[in-house]
Amino acid sequence: MKDSPFSQRIVKVSENNSSRIILALDLNEKLEKLVSLSLGILEKTSSQLCGVKVNMHLLLPLGLVEIRRILRKIHDNDLQAVADLKLNDIASTNISIANRLWEMGFDAVIVNPVAGFEGGLDRLIEESRRRDKGVIGLVYMSHPGAEETYGLRLENGNSLHDFFLVKALEWGLDGIVVGATRPEEISRISKIVGGKILIFSPGVGVQGGIAGRVRDLGADFLIVGRSIVEAANPLKAAAQIRLETWR
Ligand code: XMP
Repeated sequence: MKDSPFSQRIVKVSENNSSRIILALDLNEKLEKLVSLSLGILEKTSSQLCGVKVNMHLLLPLGLVEIRRILRKIHDNDLQAVADLKLNDIASTNISIANRLWEMGFDAVIVNPVAGFEGGLDRLIEESRRRDKGVIGLVYMSHPGAEETYGLRLENGNSLHDFFLVKALEWGLDGIVVGATRPEEISRISKIVGGKILIFSPGVGVQGGIAGRVRDLGADFLIVGRSIVEAANPLKAAAQIRLETWR
């Protein structure tokens, strides 16, 4: 929730840097170049960010030691580090993964609510809270196919993504993910949550979401990958999105 330690930390960094951007550090380079390129992009863009999201692009090829170098750089720049694993397993597996992530130095993890609470996300949520770590739940993903699943209508007429929103609030999560490609949903959901939980929105730029619009409709943070990391000038690209979304 908005007063949780992770939420407070990321809001504070956001205010300090006048930025709502969480950089998705999604690099597809050769293994031997991954760390130096990651550090280089962070060097150039950190002043424009409030956080960095690390996905399988780095977690799979890099070991604990090398990931720690990247996390040290993120934290040296006073940014928050989010692991995007969309965790969706039984409790013993989820907690084992989360403990590794906390050991690496991550501040928050993205989870998939499909796992449910009892015997699914319960231990991870409790342990994260105990350690002041953040848990962010998917509510409506950004890609077109998400409509087939997140858009499903339940027997009571509500949609599956509304059910996930109810669960995020009930479980006391720190944040929710709603795709920037779904501006109407961001607007509707931000009115429902009324600032009680942070809204993280991926899908800006390459996937079609418009950063400034999504921010105006209520997203607290924009998760941006290729529009920055693949830009000819990542600093300029990040600075432009920062200005569009900081008002
Ligand atoms: P791009 O390059 O499209 O990267 O800016 C977006 C990043 O965010 C991830 N992504 C999502 N993560 N829920 C998530 O938790 C989503 O709906 C979603 N859509 C995109 C994507 O994997 C990439 O790292």
